[in-house]
Amino acid sequence: MGAIKILATGAYAPEHTLDNDQLSQMVDTSDEWIFSRTGMKVRHISQGENTSDLGVKAARIAIQNSGIAPEKIGLLLVSTFTPDCYTPATACIIQEKLGLAQVPMMAFDISAACSGFPYALKIANALLKETPGQYGLIVSSEVISKVVDYTDRSTCILFGDAAGAVVVQYDENAMLYTCAHSRADKETLYVPGVDMQDQTSPSYIYMNGREVFKFAVETVPQAIDEVLKQAGLTIDGIDYIVLHQANARIIASIQKRLGCKSEKLYMNIAEYANTSSASIPVALDEMVHKGMLKKGMKVVCVGFGAGLTWGAALLEW
Ligand code: ACO
Repeated sequence: MGAIKILATGAYAPEHTLDNDQLSQMVDTSDEWIFSRTGMKVRHISQGENTSDLGVKAARIAIQNSGIAPEKIGLLLVSTFTPDCYTPATACIIQEKLGLAQVPMMAFDISAACSGFPYALKIANALLKETPGQYGLIVSSEVISKVVDYTDRSTCILFGDAAGAVVVQYDENAMLYTCAHSRADKETLYVPGVDMQDQTSPSYIYMNGREVFKFAVETVPQAIDEVLKQAGLTIDGIDYIVLHQANARIIASIQKRLGCKSEKLYMNIAEYANTSSASIPVALDEMVHKGMLKKGMKVVCVGFGAGLTWGAALLEW
């Protein structure tokens, strides 16, 4: 059909970690509560590195693994809800840090929260179709710790920092089916911007956990169904489903709804917690390292998050 395909992956997470026991000393919680409700054990937390720093490290690994000349990158997309600054885009900052400031390319950020990676695949697919010789670099990077209130036990246990990256190229023989959606809702999950009445008030994540849970369990199976229908496949024809790693119980509920074996749904939430848009490319990179992804395998990636947004991408490895 002709589409982009992933040539290589890379990932990076800060060395410093925060486990459930350490969090239990900061807020009124416990390892048992966190693990049983979320499946999380440890999260990586940046010590001074910003979103572009994490992104550059993941990007360098992906570029190296792809073997391409970095000067051939014509499109640099960064998905993040924790950019370095309002402007310029984190994508432009990463372009500069990669030493590609003078290389002609389009570079911009995608603000679709935890749906950022499938959104980016859809956008890269449309743009690289116009310039088939060029390579695309997608970086999904988050330093969520900078918008977490570490006195709020209902949110501070959930998030970690990480970055994942992929190098993509348009290929006449590749296949990619995508969907991307938005249902405007700014109450369920958000990080406020500057409060014009009180410009000193902090910007922290607010979340209605139960509503997020319901939203995810409703929309993710629909998105999977949508890309399966486009491809003329059933769930049995899919080798792996890589969901945004928001919560182990969300993943388990979706697995039951899909009626497939738990091994089909990759999960690494215990070691990273929720890293928003970074979670899918970090998972893909781990799967590559574990030798799980073989040429020709079919993989569905699904993101869901603030917006509310959700989206899926069915691709052939
Ligand atoms: N430790 C101990 N108790 C806690 C904690 C904690 N860390 N956090 C909340 N509680 C308490 C609450 O105060 C409440 O106590 P109360 O009954 O005395 O008022 C009780 O636990 C129940 O609180 P709920 O918020 O209703 O807990 P719930 O069982 O829904 O679990 C959770 C919370 C884990 C967040 C769940 O709602 C969930 O998984 N939601 C999905 C949200 C999610 O994954 N978000 C990720 C970010 S969004 C994204 O990536 C798309």
